[in-house]
Formats: sequence, C-alpha cells, structure tokens
Amino acid sequence: MNEHDSERISGLLEADGMAEANAMDEADVIVLNTCCIRENADNKLYAQLGQLKHLKKANPRLQIAVAGCLAQKDRDLIREKAGHVDVVFGTHNVHRAAELLTEARESGPIVEILEETAREDAAAFPSALPAKRESDFAAWVTIQIGCDNNCAFCIVPAVRGPEISREFAGLVTEVKALADVGVTEVTLLGQNVNSYGRDIQLARRQAGEDVRVRPLFGDLLRDVGAIDGIRRVRYTSPHPKDLRPETITAMAETDAVCEHLHFPLQAGSDRILAQMHRGYTGERFLEKLQEARAGVPDLAVTTDIIVGFPGETEDDFVRTLEVAAEARFDSAYTFVYSPRPGTEAAEWTDKFIPAEVTKDRMERLRTVIERSSRARHAERVGKTEIAAVFGPSKRDPDVMSGRTRQNKLVHFASDKPLKAGTYARVKIVDSGMHYLRGELLDITALPTHRTRIPVVSA
Ligand code: 5AD
Ligand code: SF4
Repeated sequence: MNEHDSERISGLLEADGMAEANAMDEADVIVLNTCCIRENADNKLYAQLGQLKHLKKANPRLQIAVAGCLAQKDRDLIREKAGHVDVVFGTHNVHRAAELLTEARESGPIVEILEETAREDAAAFPSALPAKRESDFAAWVTIQIGCDNNCAFCIVPAVRGPEISREFAGLVTEVKALADVGVTEVTLLGQNVNSYGRDIQLARRQAGEDVRVRPLFGDLLRDVGAIDGIRRVRYTSPHPKDLRPETITAMAETDAVCEHLHFPLQAGSDRILAQMHRGYTGERFLEKLQEARAGVPDLAVTTDIIVGFPGETEDDFVRTLEVAAEARFDSAYTFVYSPRPGTEAAEWTDKFIPAEVTKDRMERLRTVIERSSRARHAERVGKTEIAAVFGPSKRDPDVMSGRTRQNKLVHFASDKPLKAGTYARVKIVDSGMHYLRGELLDITALPTHRTRIPVVSA
C-alpha cells in the first residue's frame, strides 16, 4: 500500500509538470514517503533528513516533503527537528501532494495531516489519481483502504483509518482503462479484501435503502477477470477468518485469477492467535487452507508469520512450527515482533520476548519454511508454465526473469531480449528455494484469454 502511495505521489507530481531527476542532488523536489508498519522508521527518517540539509544549502530551490504514516504520527515534530522540511502530509492527503508543494513554494512551510479519508471524497481515493507505475504491464488497484480489524500488533487501523471500499462499477471501469493502455496484470489491494463492500452496504442501509445483496469480492474477481486484455488478476490480502467459499469458487472459475493465495497465518498457537484477536485457531486456518486448495487446483500459498509476540512461550512457538509445516507454504515473510506505539500489544512490556530467544526461534522457523519452499518449487520441475517477463535477470543480461501464475520467480535464457510484459511459455528444468529455472518454448500471443492462450512460435 505504501509503495503504491509512492507511485501515486510520483504520478501527481508528473501530472503537475515535473520529471524524474537522475540523482538526488539534481532534484528540485524530494519526497520521503515513510511506512511505520514494522520498523522504527524514525531514526532512518531523521538521519536521512540530516543528510539532505547540505543539498538544500547548495540548491535553495530544493523542496523537501515528508509523507506517510510517520509524518502523520510526528506532525509538527518533523519541522521542529528538521526545519528545512517544506511540506509534511499523511496517508489521507496523498492527493494533495502537488498542491501542497506549490502552496509551500508561495507561502512557506506547511504541515497538513488529515485523520480520515471521507467516503465522499472520491478525489482522495487511491487509484482515482494518476500513478506513475513501476511497470507498464502490471498495475496495483486499491479496492479498499483502512481496516476495521484490531489485531493487537498492528498499527494499520490507527494510521489508515476505518475500512472504506471503492464503488464496484468505478473499479471495473478503472481496470478497463488500465487494460486500454496495455496493462495485462492487476493486483487488487486491500487490508482485508474479503470484507470488500461491507461498508458500502451499511452506508446505503443507513441512508434508508433496501440493500439485501452487496457485491462480494468474488464478484469483483469475476468482473475484473472478464475484462478484455486482462490476463492475470492477483489480490492481497484476504484475512483467513473472512475467506469465503464464494471467493474460492470465483478464483477457480475465473481463468485470469492466478493460482496464488497470500494467507497470513501470523502465529500457530490458539492462545496467541486469540491474544492477537485474529479470529481463528491454528486448526481452523488449516481447514480453510484445505478448502482453498481443494477448490483451486495447483494453488500456491504464501504467508506472513510474526515471531516473538509478547508472551509467546516455547510451546506456543512450537505450534507455529507445526502449523507452518502442515500448511506447506510456498514461501513466507517472517517478521520479528516489533512494538508499535499506540497498539494494544505494545503495552505488554512485561511480556516482551528477549532478542536472543526470538533470534533462535526465527532460525528454526526459517528452516521449516525453507523445507516446504524447496519442495514446492521442486514440484514444478517438468511442468510447462507461463512466465510474465519483467526484464533481464540481474546477473546475466541473456537470461530473462519473469513470474509464473503462482507468482514464482523464473529465469530462462533467450537469444533475443524479451520486452517486459511478454508472456512466454517455459519448461521448468530446475528449482531452488526462491526461484525456478526454465527453457523458453515460445512466446504466447497477446491479450486474448488466459490459460487457453493461442501459441505463436518464438
Ligand atoms: N511486528 C511485526 N510484524 C508485523 N506485521 C504487522 N505489524 C507487525 C508488528 N508490529 C506484519 C504482519 C502483517 C505484515 C504485513 O506485517 O505479519 O501481515
Ligand atoms: Fe492489521 Fe489485522 Fe487489519 Fe491486517 S487485518 S491490517 S494485520 S489490523
């Protein structure tokens, strides 16, 4: 979400007539977009601002802006600590980036933080804005902002506000517009995509409308997947407690929806899961996973796991290992618990886990994840997969890199360079823990529909 915000800020500045600078010291505007979900962004930000001071001396026209969650949290403190900052804005007024810079140029420094995005304020809504995308063929589409859950470790509800879904029709129109400019892959973004539309229904009911059915997330998958030119639909993240059978059916029945589910476990122990307010047990998580795998053949599953949540005992942790082993994840993002000021668990200082204990647990967890990761990648050897090419590999320009439908990184040799956004059929010949190696068979023709892609020779 934060990366997408950065794309939107770049897009807005570009629409305002700016162009990307080649280097920091050539820039007239520098925006630092902060994220405080896990790390203490504080030290990093102030160190970086310190370094920017001399640039400002050399180029008095230089404007420095600080955006994102940390800006929202520190507000006036930023200018108190770093008086050379011109603009401070938060996550709810990204849409004001260009205007704020102009206003500051004319009348001096501005700190503007909004507490929430108003439902009516369509202009403020992510994706309703120009975005300067990193990729020409793949785009993020925000379907929902904020979060109505209250996971005890998580700062998101405090910084992103309550859940607000975008209107269904507007989303479909936006993806059509993206397809018209050559986007073939979209990733639908939300903190809790399975509750998509819940707030729209509630708001309409409160306004006296008789709304019995609301569009569900599965409907969105179907409609977005049916758009001409869209070959791949991904989404992140569903909350395990809210994953519905309809979503699984929609995934299975919509060819464009990729066989990949990001399914954040966080912890395996029922006691810890309850303290986290996650709304499921280890057993229930595994059952839901089983249902998803049964519904969507060849489903790759990735996850997020937190190690060292306050009060996590050895037994609790062993249960995380057990659930992770049984889940056989394709890969996992593993995080050491990081207390976020203002969240519930950050208060439980007497239960914090010593660093040497979390370090040891992290190593043991990685061993378990690596085992399934290697095995799941090895299972792909011998299969033919479609790779969406994103560029030459970092190590060897003759080797192209892409992503399979399961979102696995795949490298393969090509005697001519392939443009980003090319879809190539590759035979998988080898695998590692984080990648596949393939041989190029042919290039698949453009945007008709999906698994049944007509094949032309390379
Ligand atoms: N400490 C560690 N990890 C966290 N995450 C969110 N908040 C914290 C925290 N305070 C992780 C969760 C979430 C992912 C995006 O970041 O695993 O799923
Ligand atoms: Fe944070 Fe939980 Fe909401 Fe995810 S569901 S954003 S972890 S509060």
